[in-house]
Amino acid sequence: MKKVTVSTLMKRYSAQEKLVMSTAYDAIESRLCAAGGIDFILVGDSVGMTHLGYANTLPVTMEDMLSHTAAVRRGAPEAFVVFDMPFMSYQESLSQAMHNAGVAMKTTGADAVKLEGGAEYAELVRKLTGAGIPVMGHVGLMPQRVQVSGGYKIVGRDDAGAEQVMRDALALQEAGAFAVVLECVTEDVAAAVTNKLNIPTIGIGSGKYCSGQVQVIADLLGLQEFKPKHAKRYLEGAEIISAALKSYADEVRNGTFPTEEHSFK
Ligand code: KIV
Repeated sequence: MKKVTVSTLMKRYSAQEKLVMSTAYDAIESRLCAAGGIDFILVGDSVGMTHLGYANTLPVTMEDMLSHTAAVRRGAPEAFVVFDMPFMSYQESLSQAMHNAGVAMKTTGADAVKLEGGAEYAELVRKLTGAGIPVMGHVGLMPQRVQVSGGYKIVGRDDAGAEQVMRDALALQEAGAFAVVLECVTEDVAAAVTNKLNIPTIGIGSGKYCSGQVQVIADLLGLQEFKPKHAKRYLEGAEIISAALKSYADEVRNGTFPTEEHSFK
């Protein structure tokens, strides 16, 4: 397979093909994403909830993200992999952000970084892209700000929210971002932003008019009980996997596994 780059994605966007992104957090998942024809992979800080057992994304560290992103890269050498900057890895100062984004790119083999925030990070996005680091923006619902927003709320239902999303997305484009995630933005606002921008909008919970979609792999595969409204399960993974593990446990206990076939002479 040929290496996917920003220009591969931009060509597909220009040809008005929908872009497909999934999260992945380890080598098995990234290999499966590549085999499934996913256009690009986000190593999201959602790893904190799906794989690390935290209640939200705030405890996720740079070390967590470096380790998971390097594993994703090893599983899918040709994929376009985006490193999600974790909470407080870029908010402190421009130099902290530049340093951490540089470490992410140099040590994991990521192709780009993503950060939550709009116009307030335009200068940072300009500096990162100027230094050769492709940036994906993320506006609308920003899970790293859950303590301030007081919960996971839909954005764009009032004029102020709608205007803010438009302003932020435009500021990120102007600063050089190659794409913008729109999380839980009302469908009409997401459509207006998508029409206005000349870079792709990648929606999650933001309706069908975005240039592409991103979903959390655990939601796609039904690996956890919680099912957000915006997600669709393409597999009842938890049920299927638990049943398989139960069969294994039963067979060990009743002596039908292992057999000659699984043993060495
Ligand atoms: O961390 C994540 O998985 C994300 C997506 C929800 C876009 O940021």
